[in-house]
Amino acid sequence: MNFRSDNTTGAAPEVLAALVEANAGPATPYGADPWTARAEVAVRDVFETDCAVFLVATGTAANALALSAMAPPFGAVLCHPEAHVMVDECGAPELFTGGAKLIPLPDRGGRITAADLDAFLALPDGGVHRVRPAAVSLTQAAETGVVYAPGAVADLAAVAHGRGLKVHMDGARFANAVAALGCTPAEASWRAGVDILCLGASKNGALAAEAVVVFDPALAAELPYRRKRGGHLLSKGRFLGAQMAAYLADGLWLGLAARANAAAARLAAGLGQVPGVDFVYPVEANELFVVLPPRVRDGLRADGFQFLDWDGPPRPGDGATVARLVTAFDTRDADVDALAAAARRHASPGPAGAGGDAA
Ligand SMILES: Cc1ncc(COP(=O)(O)O)c(C=O)c1O
Repeated sequence: MNFRSDNTTGAAPEVLAALVEANAGPATPYGADPWTARAEVAVRDVFETDCAVFLVATGTAANALALSAMAPPFGAVLCHPEAHVMVDECGAPELFTGGAKLIPLPDRGGRITAADLDAFLALPDGGVHRVRPAAVSLTQAAETGVVYAPGAVADLAAVAHGRGLKVHMDGARFANAVAALGCTPAEASWRAGVDILCLGASKNGALAAEAVVVFDPALAAELPYRRKRGGHLLSKGRFLGAQMAAYLADGLWLGLAARANAAAARLAAGLGQVPGVDFVYPVEANELFVVLPPRVRDGLRADGFQFLDWDGPPRPGDGATVARLVTAFDTRDADVDALAAAARRHASPGPAGAGGDAA
C-alpha cells in the first residue's frame, strides 16, 4: 500500500507491449528509427501544432535541457519555492545552463502568480551586478498538487513575454493536469504561451520516457547538441520512441491520468471524514497534502502504509506533520479505502484493548 509517489508504480501493459514489439530486429540508433518518428508525429497530433520533440529518459534531464535553451549562464529562472527544478534536481538546471540562478517567487496557494512575477520584474535591474531574468518555470500539475488553469498560465506568459522572458513548463504530471482541467493539451500549453513543455510519461505509465516539446522554433536549434553533450541521446532511442508513441496512442495517457486523479479524489473524500486531518492544498490532480496528527501518522505507518513526510511549509504544531500521498493509474480502490478506514480508526481509537473501530 504505497502512496509515496506515482513513480513507485510499474509501467502500463500497453507501454510494455510496445517495448517488446520494438525489440524485434535491428533499428537505426540515436533516434533515427521509426518508433521515434511515430512518437514525434503523435506529440504533434496531440498538441495540434508543428513542434520539435526531443525524447529523454528522465524528467531532470528534460527540465535541465529545456532551461539550458532558455537561460544563459548569467540568467535567472523564476519559479515556485518548492519547484522540482529548484529543490529536487541536484543543481542540474544550474549545471546545464552553465550557472543560471533559480530564484523563488512567493507561494500563493501552491502556485506562482502573474502579479508576483510582474512585481519581481519591476524591481530595479541592478545592471551587470545581478543575474538577468531569462525564464519563468511553472510545474503542471504543481508540486503542491494544484493545477494552473490555462488563463493563469496565459497571465504568467503575458508578463514573461512582455519582459523578454521565455516560459518553461515542467509537465512531469501534465497528463494529470489536463485530465483534471478537461481542456486540450494545446490549451494548457502553447496556446497559453508555453515555449517549452517537458511532457512526463514515467509517472503515468511509461518505464522511463519524457519529451522536451519545443513550441518556439528558435529554442530548438541547439537542443540536439545539448542533449548529446549532456549524455541524454540514447543509442537505442527506439525504446524511448516506442514508449512515448504507445503512451499517447488512443488517449491512453489521459485515461491513465484520469484513473490516478479519481483515486486521489476518493482518498480525499475518505480522509475528509477523519477528525484532525486537514488539507493543506485542495486536491486537484493526483497528490494530497494533509496534516496528520502524530497518532494517525504513526498508526498508518505501523499498518504498513507508505507516504512521504513533506518538508515544505507549513509546519503544523503539536507533533503533527504534513504527509504527501500520491496516487497512480494502478492505485486500487481497496487500498484507498483501507487507508481512509485506518486513519479513522487511529484518529478515534476505541476503549483501550477493544481494538475496534470507534468511527
Ligand atoms: C515535478 C517533477 N518534475 C520532474 C520530475 C522528474 O524527475 P526524474 O528526474 O526523477 O524523472 C519529478 C519527479 O519526481 C517531479 O515530481
